[in-house]
Amino acid sequence: MFDPVEKLKEFIRHPSVSADPAFKAGMQGALDFTTGLLASIGFDVEVVKTDLHPIIMASRGTNPAWPHVIIYGHYDVQPADPLHLWQSPAFEPEIRGNRLYGRGAADNKGPLMVHIAAVARLLERRPDLPLRITFMIEGEEEMGSPSFPKFLAAYGDRLKQADLVYLSDTLLPSEDQVVITCGLRGLVLCDVVVTGPKSDLHSGLHGGVLRNPIQAIAELCASLHNPDGSVNIPGFYDDVMPVEPWEKEEIKKLGADAEAYRKFLGIPAFYTAKGATPFEATRVLPTLEFNGIGGGYQGEGTKTVIPSKAFVKLSCRLVANQKPAVIRDLLYKTISERMPSDVTFEIIDQHQGVPYVVVPPDRTNTPPDQSPVLANAFRAADQAIAAVFGKPPLYLREGGSVPIIADIKRMTGLDSVMIGLFLPEDNLHAPNESFNLDVMAKGMRASERILEAIADR
Ligand code: BES
Ligand code: MN
Repeated sequence: MFDPVEKLKEFIRHPSVSADPAFKAGMQGALDFTTGLLASIGFDVEVVKTDLHPIIMASRGTNPAWPHVIIYGHYDVQPADPLHLWQSPAFEPEIRGNRLYGRGAADNKGPLMVHIAAVARLLERRPDLPLRITFMIEGEEEMGSPSFPKFLAAYGDRLKQADLVYLSDTLLPSEDQVVITCGLRGLVLCDVVVTGPKSDLHSGLHGGVLRNPIQAIAELCASLHNPDGSVNIPGFYDDVMPVEPWEKEEIKKLGADAEAYRKFLGIPAFYTAKGATPFEATRVLPTLEFNGIGGGYQGEGTKTVIPSKAFVKLSCRLVANQKPAVIRDLLYKTISERMPSDVTFEIIDQHQGVPYVVVPPDRTNTPPDQSPVLANAFRAADQAIAAVFGKPPLYLREGGSVPIIADIKRMTGLDSVMIGLFLPEDNLHAPNESFNLDVMAKGMRASERILEAIADR
């Protein structure tokens, strides 16, 4: 059996930034590393070519009578910039205290390594384990998985043969409190570009006769929320799934420490929509955020200019049962209605993701036709987590998005069992990303038990 921490370091040393073509070699390195590791523990590996970064399909076990688990992960990472804020270089993994630092340590190389190591140990102990396992590991998650729909169309029939998807690409609130993630938010991303005059103008010569596009963008942005924090787009909340009582209870069990959360964020006060607590707000409510805004002169000193263009980058996080296409149209309609006729504008669609929800067994709203293998997997996860982490898991929806999970559900009917394994302090997408090695060790023990219990039913 390999040393999982050493292997994780090796994985991180391949700089697999999917969004940046300059990291082509790093992507190839991470791909080869992963396929090599899976082959070394006895998996048949297939590398599925896509228009961009290949998808790894690696499997063991062929007996159709055995349960079949697809383990999902991604080998790509976010860009590491700003580089100067890293205490140790992003792609030179370093252990400090009980943490392993490096880009991708938590999102998603560490959690993926947890499951690969758990499988390796389990198969070493029980080479004849009656379980079919398929690793499905993509390289475009951090850029919105553009190749995944095509892949699903081609491989959907094969994936349908499986019983469930199993993954760790979500959060646990603290080291001893694991979460089984029952939902992910969806996304609608777009840029709005406003054009005023056909070129930049001297503000002394022409100021006073036209609307500045920065003003138009600012007025638009200011109109998109109500004073109470809710999104001011008619119809925006129409399809939002009501929160079930059991869900409220789960959130309450978590909600003890709002003050610590406030301090962690470094804000003077919370600002949530619809009177939600901070712990409900990110999990069961949709949002509209501004991710970037620009126009005009950004340099030193002053420049008396009226810019020709200004822009804002917008994103909505959606909850079950909101539909990205519907929200996108409402957004478009609202912007059209509110944009003054003395400027022109354009909406540039970026990617979208469908929200996902799965109800674990024994809840009031569990679908009556839930597959026994899925229900058994949830119960196995509950027991294994309680035994290894010393506390039963909480069942919570998550604020982040892994859009392919809903796509898999739609195309194949498969649900996902998601075990949160990264912590708020792991700095995902930020400088000094790290993975907690105690969580890693416990995660491996829990995952090994979960997979064994799925096999033994
Ligand atoms: N692992 C994250 C999703 C996540 C983040 C789950 C935080 C729970 C908490 C995933 O890799 C990610 O970053 N997803 C993106 C969306 C994607 C389409 C770029 C996200 O949520 O912004
Ligand atoms: Mn991720």
